[in-house]
Amino acid sequence: MDAMLRKLNGDNSTRGSIYLEEQVNKSGVVSCIFSLKEGVGALVHALRLFEDKGINLTHIESRPSRLNKDEYEFFISVDAACSPALDEVVNSLRAEISGQVHELSRSKQKDTLPWFPTNLQDLDRFANQILSYGSELDADHPGFKDKVYRARRKEFADIAYNYRHGQPIPCVEYTEEEKATWGIVFRELKTLYPTHACREHNRVFPLLEEYCGYREDNIPQLEDVSNFLQSCTGFRLRPVAGLLSSRDFLAGLAFRVFHSTQYIRHGSKPMYTPEPDICHELLGHVPLFADASFAQFSQEIGLASLGAPDEYIEKLATVYWFTVEFGLCKQGNDIKAYGAGLLSSFGELQYCLSDKPKLLPFEPEKTSMQKYPITEFQPVYYIAESFEDGKEKVRKYAATIPRPFSLRYNAYTQSIEVLDNTQKLSNLADSISSEMGILCSALQKMN
Ligand SMILES: [Fe+2]
Repeated sequence: MDAMLRKLNGDNSTRGSIYLEEQVNKSGVVSCIFSLKEGVGALVHALRLFEDKGINLTHIESRPSRLNKDEYEFFISVDAACSPALDEVVNSLRAEISGQVHELSRSKQKDTLPWFPTNLQDLDRFANQILSYGSELDADHPGFKDKVYRARRKEFADIAYNYRHGQPIPCVEYTEEEKATWGIVFRELKTLYPTHACREHNRVFPLLEEYCGYREDNIPQLEDVSNFLQSCTGFRLRPVAGLLSSRDFLAGLAFRVFHSTQYIRHGSKPMYTPEPDICHELLGHVPLFADASFAQFSQEIGLASLGAPDEYIEKLATVYWFTVEFGLCKQGNDIKAYGAGLLSSFGELQYCLSDKPKLLPFEPEKTSMQKYPITEFQPVYYIAESFEDGKEKVRKYAATIPRPFSLRYNAYTQSIEVLDNTQKLSNLADSISSEMGILCSALQKMN
């Protein structure tokens, strides 16, 4: 499907959905993975390219691709001395077997592009790329010694681990104890929202109570909330089994997908959690993702991250931290909280609007360099003029990230388009032109 779309779009370069992973290990061996469409002679053709360049394969394995039923993946190793010749082979694979070879990245030292997802299904790959499983707790976690809690955490992690795009998010029957924990957090935070939360949060919250079962005695289901968000802004939730890398997490935002936890914090400390939990996601994040401007702002951070070099991923993760997690914004003469880390913490929500922390204007270049603690209240917060203003600033900042192409999200195909040929630019121009026509016609009718 993906290859077909690329061809339809006149994309012969296959950049972005290509993956070829290459690592040089201590023994001087270069390993890479490439995939080929099934077909008589496809592998022979590919192998001949290696042979023609005098590259001796020291290892080869194959397996059916998990992602594309009609493709096979090949893992090969060659001697590191063959690396320059391997460049030529990769080019030949691309040119001669167009659209069927995929590259993730070559070595970090070279001027190459990290792999990024180009369609919603690609996000399924992240499910198996977690840095730690959600049931592994640190020794200082309130639930560390609680066997029942740990078993419960594993149930949630398993749901997420087995989840695939397109499936409904499994409903969870929360226990009385879990509901009681939620109830305490819900009740306490709700008293602060009218005075401390931004107007977008306060506008959406009653809708969540009306349509998604937000109540003191009920923990809403992710599936219901995800459907609600999709109808508002196209944002959707996806359960996550553990900690994702910043690169993967940010990439989700490019597709308006938010990776959400489903478990709840330990009942012994309802007002504290060392990690995101469902209270944080549902009370902090969800209301804002239902706001059109904020949704676009979040997606902008995600789009900036696709294919960006590692050092920029770190900077974008910091921008995310000081906006989506801990952002403050101007509203009239006041300053209000819109960051989910604030809106889900009774203590920090009061603290952030006191005279104790330092407040600075949001400027991505500077904000992205700010160091921050993760286990205590933030000493510094950044204030956005508005989500629109923040979005423009992130967009300008993204333009400074070294990437050899521009890209856009195509909401119709729910895929990322790499704008690297005239056909795609022409398609984009057509689509802008038709939108402009609608705008002009609407303006005329209003006059
Ligand atoms: Fe969060």
